[in-house]
Amino acid sequence: MSAVPSIVGVVGGGRMGAGIAQIFAVAGAEVTIVEADGVAADAARERVRRGVEQGAAKGKLGAEPSDVLRRITTVTSVEDLAPETGLVVEAVPEIAEAKLSVLTAVEKIIGPDAVIASNTSSLSIADLGTVLEHPKRFLGLHFFNPVPASALVEVVRAADTSSVVVSSAVDWVAALGKTEIVVKDSPGFATSRLGVLLGLEAIRMLEEDVADAESIDRAMELGYRHPMGPLKSTDLVGLDVRLAIADYLHRTVGERFRAPMLLRDKVARGELGKKSGQGFYTWPS
Ligand SMILES: NC(=O)c1ccc[n+]([C@@H]2O[C@H](COP(=O)([O-])OP(=O)(O)OC[C@H]3O[C@@H](n4cnc5c(N)ncnc54)[C@H](O)[C@@H]3O)[C@@H](O)[C@H]2O)c1
Repeated sequence: MSAVPSIVGVVGGGRMGAGIAQIFAVAGAEVTIVEADGVAADAARERVRRGVEQGAAKGKLGAEPSDVLRRITTVTSVEDLAPETGLVVEAVPEIAEAKLSVLTAVEKIIGPDAVIASNTSSLSIADLGTVLEHPKRFLGLHFFNPVPASALVEVVRAADTSSVVVSSAVDWVAALGKTEIVVKDSPGFATSRLGVLLGLEAIRMLEEDVADAESIDRAMELGYRHPMGPLKSTDLVGLDVRLAIADYLHRTVGERFRAPMLLRDKVARGELGKKSGQGFYTWPS
């Protein structure tokens, strides 16, 4: 069985980055998380510790917790990434400018053969890759939330991505115990494009008073056997994250992705879903 790269960098230790760091460390990699500053680095370390402890408590971590934590280091500059890093996964917020500046900085530090991946949920890999000198080594590795428990990784291949890089990524996904789909670089890939559209329509149905949130979710859960309804799923992903993706897909794909006013209003009020305690549902802290 193939292994993951022995040294991995993860830029952005938020919900996704902390989970990505955890699963690579469980698979045996030495992982460096790069965060924006000291406070964010402390928060990322705490997020990783909680994730590892929760995984261990459920018997699902897949390695000794102390070994996993020992393999994860947190730093505050991409310059602290080891030059021999084999893979860097960018997981900063879904803002193109933020991702572009991270990618530019990463390429200056790591070797020419290292693979660079973005965990973007929707942005064009080709567009993000324009700042790289070697876009052949760049692709999307789209993990899902919560990372340790999610079975799927979307491997997003841009026109410039080399076949060798795609095939290494497919092997790494298998070594992480997950299943890949390889998709062409296109707005929203396969998952976000379908998932966001369903979520937006559910929000429009709520605006039109077709049914309450529980009933709309139950329609999909019991009627169509979805494990989770579209509104609950939006709460878990984060309403702000969904809005950013919808706005991008609206610009790039078309009118059917226009964000409903209810979504915009909730984000403006700070009702971001589970992480803020209130979204389409109220979440206990
Ligand atoms: N939340 C989800 O369900 C989900 C699912 C799949 C993919 N994604 C994608 O993953 C990415 C991250 O999402 P998230 O939910 O983890 O966001 P988040 O806000 O929880 O985490 C982002 C982290 O990046 C850090 N950061 C910001 N600028 C930085 C910089 N310049 N250098 C280093 N760190 C920096 C922040 O401090 C924060 O900890 C986004 O592209 C998002 O679209 C999210």
